Amino acid sequence: MFDVEKIRRDFPILSRQVNGKELVYLDSGATAQKPLQVIERVDEMLRLHNANIHRGVHHLSEMATEMYEQAREIIRQYIGAEHREEIIFTAGATASLNTIAYAWGERFLQQGDNIIISEMEHHSNIVPWQLIAQRKGVEIRVLPFDYDGRLMIEKLDSLLDDRSRMVAVTQASNTLGTCPDLEQIIAKAHAAGAYVTVDGCQGVVHGGVDVKSLDCDFYAFSGHKLYGPTGIGVLYGKREILEQMPPFMCGGDMVDRVSFQRTTYAPLPLKFEAGTANFVGAIGLGEAIKYLKTLDLAAVESHERELTRYAEQALRDIDGLQIYGTTLNKCSIVSFNVEGVHHYDLGMILDKLGIAIRTGQHCAEPVMQHYSITGMCRASFALYNTKAEIDALVKGVERAVRMLR
Ligand code: ALA
Repeated sequence: MFDVEKIRRDFPILSRQVNGKELVYLDSGATAQKPLQVIERVDEMLRLHNANIHRGVHHLSEMATEMYEQAREIIRQYIGAEHREEIIFTAGATASLNTIAYAWGERFLQQGDNIIISEMEHHSNIVPWQLIAQRKGVEIRVLPFDYDGRLMIEKLDSLLDDRSRMVAVTQASNTLGTCPDLEQIIAKAHAAGAYVTVDGCQGVVHGGVDVKSLDCDFYAFSGHKLYGPTGIGVLYGKREILEQMPPFMCGGDMVDRVSFQRTTYAPLPLKFEAGTANFVGAIGLGEAIKYLKTLDLAAVESHERELTRYAEQALRDIDGLQIYGTTLNKCSIVSFNVEGVHHYDLGMILDKLGIAIRTGQHCAEPVMQHYSITGMCRASFALYNTKAEIDALVKGVERAVRMLR
């Protein structure tokens, strides 16, 4: 039985007040709250086991290294990767995507090639590609979405050609919630000889992933949206591709031998983990995944879907409210605007009522351009949210609209 009240007790922040009201936290798409298990694990690391990894023969260093490598294994299993070398710890999804674009692009792109990016991408899955494209003389092509927020995969065939090298696409849009049909995209891209990078930031949280059966070439996500700490993320890449890529960041831990004449690099995954890694964050992320594995994840997913359906139905009854992203296969994100009301003002009034939503462009300006708007309100739901919180959101929006119109 999925027991949301029991789950809520694991997240201490949910019992605090904001502006004198019970907190209603509907911004997990930006960052999720942390269960006690993660908080206590990080606390324990810092109190008892802190020492730099891969560097010491002393007890603490060995212990921290072992815990860090255990976290890598937990993540490997969780996303279904075949080899531990394919799991690279980064500072977050942004760092993962920049590493892919730079290092893969450096090795695999030639002038005259093209990269296809979906129109619904977060800036992190657009701008790194633009930079490498400028450096290499590569064309960027855009796979559009329609008014409902459906990615128009049927247009992919006309964008792909024998110079297409990469398709960059999200598993779940952070603004529209849309979950594109990745199997179809990957099959088409591979048939044309192109690689595929999947931004899994929202998708890994809502439904998870099996990278091996999905057969994507790269997969990126952040720990902090998956109930783990900030400053830690994961880059998954197929081993044979990662092996061919040059390093991105350079420094300690990513080298084999260093001399002024010649430097050689450490094998995977360390080749891409320069400097002192965020081992505390990695161990915290491993703990977050352990926590998730104690839950019935199918029940979590259906709870989140039910919340989304409930919120969409209730919000639609508000006069002048438009929801962006109305495809059936979507994650628990509901973005909207109300006619005659600025998204920022609405967010401010909700905050006074203790309700946290995100407002603005959500780091996805092309999505705003698509609808010719300056921004939107976004409510995003996690496993700890309740229908009562959605009732509070709906009441709050109604009240704000009465004040602002
Ligand atoms: N990318 C995060 C979001 O969608 C910050 O809010």
